[in-house]
Amino acid sequence: MKKVLDRKFCVAPMMGYTTPYARNLYRILSKNTFLFSEMIASKTLINSKNLQTIIANEQQNPIALQVGGSEYDDLKLSSKIAYELNYDEINLNVGCPSKAVQKGSFGACLMQDKVLVRNCLEAMKINKNIEVSIKCRIGLGKDFNYDFFEEFIDEILKSEIKVVYVHARNAILKGISPKGNRNIPPLNYNFVSKIKSKYPDITFILNGGISSINKAVELSKIYDGVMLGRLIQNNPFCLKDVDRLFYNESNNYIISEKTIKDYFNFIKPKKGKDSIYRLLSPLLNIFFGIPDAKQFKIDIHSKMKNQNFDNLEQIFLKFVNEKKLLIN
Ligand SMILES: Cc1cc2nc3c(=O)[nH]c(=O)nc-3n(C[C@H](O)[C@H](O)[C@H](O)COP(=O)(O)O)c2cc1C
Repeated sequence: MKKVLDRKFCVAPMMGYTTPYARNLYRILSKNTFLFSEMIASKTLINSKNLQTIIANEQQNPIALQVGGSEYDDLKLSSKIAYELNYDEINLNVGCPSKAVQKGSFGACLMQDKVLVRNCLEAMKINKNIEVSIKCRIGLGKDFNYDFFEEFIDEILKSEIKVVYVHARNAILKGISPKGNRNIPPLNYNFVSKIKSKYPDITFILNGGISSINKAVELSKIYDGVMLGRLIQNNPFCLKDVDRLFYNESNNYIISEKTIKDYFNFIKPKKGKDSIYRLLSPLLNIFFGIPDAKQFKIDIHSKMKNQNFDNLEQIFLKFVNEKKLLIN
């Protein structure tokens, strides 16, 4: 039976960051947060001999796999793979402005061809047990154009998808980098409010520029849900408060030695299968904003070179023990 999924708080897909290891940390800190994979090109998904390393989903549900592509057969196959790997949702990326992605005919440039996007979404619908969704921008180019956005949504909703994540700024396809495209085009949350009032039965999740958990709480009262990227990239440990603030749990998660042990138990069997940096980097953010952490960081980086997981675990355990009050 199809599960009812709650997207009140979502971690945005982020290439190079929302790896299987990072998602494991997120899941340790919050049972309910809705997670996303990094964007994976449909061709990579289909042809990879290394699928488990890139999109393993070891009980990280609720979770969506984000795919980039525009070829119907590839997208259909991608949905099948996501379903087989127990993802709850497959999401089409129609927001990435990078040159490489444009060259492959996917990402934000697809907003120019709404019928193609609708057909892609239709192709991705393989069965009732995997939700199909989209992540898009509010428009293209320098100027706001609500009619363009509304017409895009009108068309893609003919595919009968029910969930739309909106990065509430335009994408500018020429002249600025993906990083610039996350800052320079101004935000306009109004577009999301307006489209929601036209389609009250569709779930619209707000993304873009939500820079604190408090702001996220306020916005989640107005919108169906919120999606945060860079705040979690910089400080994933703020997820410890999400279950209480967004999902009515009575207590925050407490960061303790168990957090470190749970994380290491997850990554230890993966040693040698992926780079030490990818395995460990999600945990390095534990030092974010904590005073007198410099020596710990130096020790960690020197131990990362010789890949001694037991030593590394001990340093993190010592840190958590010493800084318990500051990190919680
Ligand atoms: C490092 C990085 C990688 C990203 N990779 C993706 C991606 O793979 N797919 C995607 O749809 N958006 C990607 N984004 C955009 C985010 O999902 C999000 O839409 C954007 O950062 C705005 O949200 P924020 O202001 O909360 O960070 C990426 C953002 C960052 C910072």
